[in-house]
Amino acid sequence: MRTEEPRAVLLKDYAPPAYLIDTVSLEVELDPAATRVHSKLKMRTNPASGGGPLVLDGEKLTLHEVRLNGETLSPNAYQVDGRHLTIPDLPAGEFTLETVTTCGPEANTALTGLYLSSGIYCTQCEAQGFRRITYYLDRPDAMAVFTTRIVADEKVAPVLLSNGNLVKEGKLASGKHFAEWHDPFPKPAYLFALVAGRLGHVEDKFVTKSGRKVTLRIFVEPGNEDRCAYALEALKRSMRWDEEAFGREYDLDIFMIVAVSSFNMGAMENKGLNVFNDKYILARPDTATDTDYASIEAIIAHEYFHNWTGNRVTCRDWFQLCLKEGLTVFRDQEFTSDMRSRAVKRIADVRLLRSHQFPEDQGPLAHPVRPDSYIEINNFYTATVYEKGAELCRMIHTLVGPKRFRKGMDLYFERHDGEAATVEDFLQALSDGAKIDLTQFKRWYSQSGTPEVLVSGRYDSARETYTLKMTQVCAATPGQPVKEPYHIPIAVGLVGPDGKDMALQLDGEEKPHAKTRVLNLTERTQTFRFRNVAEKPVPSLLRGFTAPVTLSSNLKERDYVFLMANDSDPFNRWEAAQRYASGLLIANVEAIRTGGKRRRGTAFAEMIRKVLADKKLDPDFAAQMILLPSEQAIAQMIGKDVDVDAIHEARETLRIAIAADVRDDLKRIYERMKVDGPYSPDAEDAGRRALRNACLGYLAFLPDGSGVEMAAAHFDGADNMTDQIAALGVLANIDVQERTRALETFYEQWKGDHLVMDKWLSIQATSSLPRALDDVKSLLHHPAFTIRNPNKVRALITSFATANQVRFHAADGAGYALVAEKVLELDALNPQVAARLLGAFKSWRQFDRKRRSLMSRQLERIAGAEGISRDVYEIASKTLA
Ligand code: ARG
Ligand code: ZN
Repeated sequence: MRTEEPRAVLLKDYAPPAYLIDTVSLEVELDPAATRVHSKLKMRTNPASGGGPLVLDGEKLTLHEVRLNGETLSPNAYQVDGRHLTIPDLPAGEFTLETVTTCGPEANTALTGLYLSSGIYCTQCEAQGFRRITYYLDRPDAMAVFTTRIVADEKVAPVLLSNGNLVKEGKLASGKHFAEWHDPFPKPAYLFALVAGRLGHVEDKFVTKSGRKVTLRIFVEPGNEDRCAYALEALKRSMRWDEEAFGREYDLDIFMIVAVSSFNMGAMENKGLNVFNDKYILARPDTATDTDYASIEAIIAHEYFHNWTGNRVTCRDWFQLCLKEGLTVFRDQEFTSDMRSRAVKRIADVRLLRSHQFPEDQGPLAHPVRPDSYIEINNFYTATVYEKGAELCRMIHTLVGPKRFRKGMDLYFERHDGEAATVEDFLQALSDGAKIDLTQFKRWYSQSGTPEVLVSGRYDSARETYTLKMTQVCAATPGQPVKEPYHIPIAVGLVGPDGKDMALQLDGEEKPHAKTRVLNLTERTQTFRFRNVAEKPVPSLLRGFTAPVTLSSNLKERDYVFLMANDSDPFNRWEAAQRYASGLLIANVEAIRTGGKRRRGTAFAEMIRKVLADKKLDPDFAAQMILLPSEQAIAQMIGKDVDVDAIHEARETLRIAIAADVRDDLKRIYERMKVDGPYSPDAEDAGRRALRNACLGYLAFLPDGSGVEMAAAHFDGADNMTDQIAALGVLANIDVQERTRALETFYEQWKGDHLVMDKWLSIQATSSLPRALDDVKSLLHHPAFTIRNPNKVRALITSFATANQVRFHAADGAGYALVAEKVLELDALNPQVAARLLGAFKSWRQFDRKRRSLMSRQLERIAGAEGISRDVYEIASKTLA
């Protein structure tokens, strides 16, 4: 047990820093065991709050010297402990503070601060990594101009990079060299970056709309230069889009990206020097799937967009994280919607929200989009802050429309450029610029939990009216027993018996306008009445998913069947199909448990037939339409006493039945969607492959076994990774010889490629065959795996724990025990990644009694373990609370 409970940091305790830092000069002499950092800070008392002792953050540092205005301080003029350097007495006004410290990048397995990744020195400072490089005011409201001089052995590190512009470089004695970088934009320390090593690069140019020439460079391990072209093109598209959609131009002479193989998350927006997980840069048709290409485009955009939403306007404190993350996710979603299919993107985003954010919001780790308390800030880079945060921006966008939204954003940048802002600042700028009262809307930022909207529709044929009665409820969440009503925008349409949208005329309106209307639900219960409704319609509710809520209504199964054939809103058309299929699956789960009769539900197969026959339909959208809801989605809808085996069985059976019902249609489209010519990752070809592979996903499970041959042939004939992995993924779920052969062939072909090996690991970890757990156990000792690399951990262990419901939740608890053991092993090396993995237990209360007790036992084992990190402690204790 821990001796002392880590203390929570509270939003209400925010106070501005007592001192300001105007400029920072760093000299970093790289060495794997002891990198020496000489920092020179020009500081002054903060006129707003100032004076008193100066408390600098610093962790895992060896302090060699402190100088104040050039004079070395005697050790009794300051105090050092494991987390701070405190100097009680300082002159009034301005002063210069220097420190000399060392840190050990080679021994840094936590991958925060300065570390070595396959021989490359790199940094990750968000949220609090800079304090592992030097003593500093490591908080986002401390903004300074940085100059960084890097010294290194020229052979080990021919390339030396930091933020801003290169101002000087040269040779030094004994094989060393140096480079000096200057970043003119004041920034918080979390945006600092340094990279050094043996790196190759590709280069391009971009001319901004005002004519500024920008050099673009992507740095990779030598040999990977041929995998950067797509990322570079995506970067240029992002730069252009931000100019057009938001009027935002790039502001330095050079923009650099470095790809590294050991990285705790996806990527990082350091000023002028983004650092990426190489998974989100490197792509070649034979190594990357369509999904990889799409992620690369989205993440390149996300990090680039941070230059304005995050860097030029940064966050006052870490409670405001959604100010940059939610907003930047919203921006990258819009970018992707403009580059590809808007409907497919919306479906993908809502899927992600429901699979990751809803369970978080409805479980023990629920927190507001702007949290008011944390123990370890790294635990708050969550689906709630990112994805729900983006939904909040989207709701404002829905409420005011694109033009007014843009006005609000322009005002936000105008007011806060160069500042560290708050959610209040953002809402004020939007409210002033877009002319909207957001007072009630603001509750979305402080209340946690997913609101539920209950809708009941009633047609009155005598009066020709259609009435929607809406009620909102939000269940209690940790620390928040009662909620005030939200401002919820709900887009609706009324679909007539002919399948066409009716014109909508609300009570009190002169004439009808628009066929989709956004209704403002602001009270607990409200009624909306439409007039001149000549025939009984079917309402299409929450079109485009205009609010992050769960919705229940008095719609019947036949209404969903009608909507999945007719709804003009593509999102709701997909949604209707999912609701129909979920209803069927949930009924069959119940039947399996009680020995009742199962339904075959021919309407879904019927819908598939129609969708496949519709030549005008975008294939990518068609692929979404024909897929069944995942086992996790069904579990979440059931919500309590979840029986994972029954869900698995119900879904498998339905999938086989559908395959048998529409086999000829599936085969026809499988043939027709074959893409000829050289591979292109563009949305059109990718859509055809998605539909073709979705067909294969059904056909492979035909009871006569003919599909296995088909999948094997698909695997052998694949000339790109998308098709190869699709076939392998299908075969991995079937216990046949072809499975063994395909896995072996794949391994032999790709064993030299660490990114492709991640796919090989995760396909085995997510196989629904009973052997998956044993396979994971043995793969832990395979040369393709190492627990020290976060991508390997995510590929093998996280995917098993979060994407293999039926095997992770094995009845004997062996899956839980394995993951818990790995959490503890990992915690000693990398607390951030360990705490993330532990998140796999967050929904433990929704399973049956036996599994609940097995899971809680593992959580207690972790919470009670000796010497665990703050990261893991916070997740374990809150999950159990
Ligand atoms: N700001 C980065 C991004 O969203 C992510 C940084 C995550 N940091 C962390 N400590 N978890 O692009
Ligand atoms: Zn971000």
